[in-house]
Parts: sequence; structure tokens; C-alpha cells
Amino acid sequence: MKAILVGFMGTGKTTIGKLLAQNLQVPHFDLDQVIVEHTGLTINQLFERFGEKTFRNLEHQLLLNHLNKDGILSTGGGTPVMSDNLTSLKQSQVPVVLLEASIETIFKRVSNNQARPLVNQLSFQQLAALKQQRNSRYYACADLVVATDDLSPVQISTKINFFLKQLKN
Ligand code: S3P
Repeated sequence: MKAILVGFMGTGKTTIGKLLAQNLQVPHFDLDQVIVEHTGLTINQLFERFGEKTFRNLEHQLLLNHLNKDGILSTGGGTPVMSDNLTSLKQSQVPVVLLEASIETIFKRVSNNQARPLVNQLSFQQLAALKQQRNSRYYACADLVVATDDLSPVQISTKINFFLKQLKN
């Protein structure tokens, strides 16, 4: 991979990943989408029928399958939270970019979103607590942190591109 995007739900990993891949003319992989295609089930169906543990096992296997491919990988919000994944992300030679957003922005984007089984019922405080609880994992694997609140997708993608180019020199 040229870069891996991590971050809490609703921070723009999919949108930015697509844009970045388009700019770099490489394939884009979205780990949730990879899981959906692999199983033929939506994320909600997977959680409902088989539980989070099965989802996490699949997520881990498919993360490993993709690390050596060329492209940009957008992970799920819980990917770096799992210890095995965090170790794999840290050990990989791939630059990891953390997308940050304020909890207000995130709440607006994810509350009542039925496609996100872990958060659609959470209050603002509960969502803030979950993000707080996960933050150290996100930062532990990040080579670059981008605060996205006041930037457009193009500006975010340009920042990441600049960082990746610097790494090459
Ligand atoms: C999850 C985030 C989701 C998806 C699943 C679990 C999480 O991905 O993987 O619902 O634990 O944070 P997005 O961050 O793309 O919404």
C-alpha cells in the first residue's frame, strides 16, 4: 500500500481514500467494502448474524491480505483498536495517516446512521467516550495526523500527498 487511512467513524476515511487514490492513480480499497464483497453481507447483517468477533476476525484477515497490495487502504474505525491489527499496522512499512475530526462533526455524521451498528444508538457523551477510549490506539500507529474539520477533501488529500512525496525524498 502507498498509504493506510485510520481514524474514528465519520472522519472521512472513505472519501479521502478515494480522492487520494484517484490523484495517485492507484486502486482504492475500503476495508469495510472488502468485507462486504467477501461475505456478500452488509456490515449490519454480519454483526447481527455472527457478532462482532466474527467481523473482527474477517477484518484482521482481510487487512493482512491487503497490506502488500498497491494502492490506498481506508480502514474501519475499529481496525487499529484490535491489538493484532495495531501491531500489523505498526510493523508494516506503509505510512499510516490518522484523520481527526471534532466529536461534534463526528456526531453529526454518524448519529442515526443505520449502517453503523456500533454507534447508531449512542448519545453524544457515549460517542465522545468511545472516541476517547480509542484515541491512544489511533495515535500509536499514525505517521501523520490531519485535523480535517476546517479543510475540504481536496485540501486534506493534498496535505497527505505532500507528506507522501516528502517520504520518498
Ligand atoms: C466500526 C467502524 C465501521 C465498521 C464497523 C465498526 C468501528 O467503519 O468497520 O461498523 O468499530 O468503529 P467506518 O469507520 O468506516 O464507519
